[in-house]
Formats: sequence, C-alpha cells, structure tokens
Amino acid sequence: MTLWAGRVGTSLAEEVREFLRGDDAELLPYDCAATAVHARRLHAAGLLSDDELAQVDEGLERIGAEGVVDEGDEDVHTAIERRLGDIGRKIHAGRSRNDQVAAAARLYVEDACAEAIVAVEGLARALLERAAEEADTPMPGYTHLQRAQPITLGHHLLAWVEMLDRDRGRLRFAADQARPSPLGAGALAGSTLALPPPPGETMQNSVDAVADRDFVLDYLYACAVLFSHLSRIGEEVCVWATSEFGFVRLPEGAATGSSMMPQKLNPDVAELVRGKAGTALGRLAGLLAVVKGLPLAYDTDLQEDKAPLFASRRDVRTALAALTVLVAELDFDRERLSAACSDPLLYATDAAEALVLAGTPFRDAHEEVAASVRAGTFEPPPGSARPTPGPGGVAEQLAAARANFAA
Ligand code: ARG
Repeated sequence: MTLWAGRVGTSLAEEVREFLRGDDAELLPYDCAATAVHARRLHAAGLLSDDELAQVDEGLERIGAEGVVDEGDEDVHTAIERRLGDIGRKIHAGRSRNDQVAAAARLYVEDACAEAIVAVEGLARALLERAAEEADTPMPGYTHLQRAQPITLGHHLLAWVEMLDRDRGRLRFAADQARPSPLGAGALAGSTLALPPPPGETMQNSVDAVADRDFVLDYLYACAVLFSHLSRIGEEVCVWATSEFGFVRLPEGAATGSSMMPQKLNPDVAELVRGKAGTALGRLAGLLAVVKGLPLAYDTDLQEDKAPLFASRRDVRTALAALTVLVAELDFDRERLSAACSDPLLYATDAAEALVLAGTPFRDAHEEVAASVRAGTFEPPPGSARPTPGPGGVAEQLAAARANFAA
C-alpha cells in the first residue's frame, strides 16, 4: 500500500514500482531519529498525547532494532510509518517525505563525516608514528619524478599528514553544512498546523529546505579530495615498492600474491585506493549533473543522491582502514633510500646557493654549476649534510602534527 493510495484507483504497476524504489535502507536509523524529533513537535502542539508520543518512541526503537525488513514498501519512510502501526497514521501530520528525507539525509551526512574524521585521524596517527621513526632517514625528494633535492622520509610522510589535516577540515565543513534541520518545510510551503520548529539550527526557507542537496555535494567533494590524497599516497607506495625503486617492502598482511606467478607480491591496497579515487570523483560529478538545472522545490531526481552517498561512506571507511594497516606495516629499506640519496648532483642547488652567499648573482651561479654538471666535474659544496627543509625541520613539524592529531 502506498502512502498516497487515496489519490489513485489502481495499484502501481510492478515495473514502475521496481523502477521508482530507491535503495534507501541505510537511511532507516536516521529517519527514525528525524521522526522522533517530528513526533515531539506534534506532541508540543497537542496533536499527540503523552501516551501516543511514548508509543511512537517505543515503535521507533523497535523498528531501529529490527533494522530493514523488505516488505515491498515504496521507501524507508513508508516502511517506518507502516511499521509504527496505528500510531503511524498520525505521525505524518505537518510533514512531507520531502522534508523528511532531507532531514534523514542530513543526519546521515553528519554521521558519515564524524566517522570519516575518526578514520582520517587514525591514518594520520599511524603516519605520524612512521614519520617519527624515519625522521632522519635520508631520501631523495622528487619533482617530475626525477631526483631533485635530498629530504628525509619523515619529512615526506609528514606531507601526507598535512593533506589529511585539510581533509579533516573539509569533512568538518560538510558536517556543518548538513546541520540545519529542514523539518517544518513540509512538501515545500510549511503547514497550517502550529508546530514548533525543531530544536537546534533550522533552515530559513521552506522551498530551499526541500530542494537543497549542497550538503551532500560538500560531503562528496570532501570524499573526492580525500580519495585524491589517498590515491597519491597509494601511487607513491606502488612506485616505492617496485624493484626499480626498492624503497619499501610490502607487508604480507596487506599485499597479495599472484595466482600464476609464484614470486609476486602486489600492492593491491594502494592500487585499489588509487582506483577508487576515480570513482569518488565520478560520484561528485554525477550528483552535480543531477542537481544542475533542477527546478525548485523537490523533484524525484534528488533520490539519486542516495547511492553515491552510501557508496562513498563505505569506500571511505574501508579504504582508510586498509590503508592504515598498510602504512603501519610498510618495511622501509633505509639502505636503498640512503643510496638513492647519495648522488652528489642532488646538492647542485646547494652549490649554487653557496656561490650566492659568496656574492655571485643566482643566475650566474646556476650557469656555473650547470656547466660543471655538463662537464662531469661537479663537486658538492663542502659539508653538504643538508638540514631538513622547512621551519624547524622534522622535529618541530612532528610536534605540531602530534598536538593537532592528539587523541
Ligand atoms: N525516496 C525519495 C528521495 O530519496 C523520498 C522523497 C519522496 N518524495 C516524493 N514526493 N516522492 O528523495
């Protein structure tokens, strides 16, 4: 039975029902929470008695505990109303599925952001431990994937931590955007019932409240950028684990063998994270295409926000968990890293800067050093054990990052 059976004479064709049915089961606990808030509004307005409110609460608790049961309901909202039994017939006064679904999706995004932040912090802390161990391990820094200047592995790993710190900021922003409640907007124009607003921040405009999905886009954007970072990390692990680089050995608990080639150990986690970055940015582009040009207020097109939302949350959760295991157990080959860093040419810039200190204009110094490189006579400046770049070097960065990611 649909919620709008009073309007139409016949039941919905099976093919149509199948097509329209959104796969929204994951919203159930959030819709229960939003329904509990709405029930309090009805109670405050005298439209639900104390006893009826208690019945709603008990019903929602039962439904939440039972989880999703597929009984052919059109969507999760219909299922909750039906499973509330008789009291369910009162609960929809003063609301529409339009503000209901927006309210549930907002709670979902807030929760997904909180969960992602915890996971991002877990990865950052694992990296901080590795950065502390490798604070003084020399390695070549790269530009254009060509050896450029010496850095330390700790310094490089701390760059990854900085990326994650900004990801955390984007996830916090998305959570903030999701926070205002759309309840009270009804279908699009509120209702004639004198219900109090929901507690906390509320949306200002009822048309916007049911039409807006910016908070989903903000979440998908935060996930897409996060995945772009995980992908860059994954790519570096893949490159470093090649025999050609040999900077790192993959931990057996986070690498896979080949079904045919007995010698192989493959960086599947790093590769799949890199691949999922493509999918993550596709989800953002996809939803942007859905909302672009949609007339206000609500349209069923908006139902297309669910699949990317749920899939992003799952990918973020599983990718961060697996990558955290991988980085915690990477076995860095300090000898190979140091050997890769022993090429005197990595100090060519330092040699030019030594000439600058002695009064040579930089462009002349650059040309002079370049000529010695071409002639094969380049000598690094004396005492060129280089300090780690950056304000305060690795130690200060580590201390700041540790404070920033303190549990
Ligand atoms: N399944 C819908 C969605 O995800 C819920 C809202 C339906 N509202 C409506 N008027 N058909 O957006």
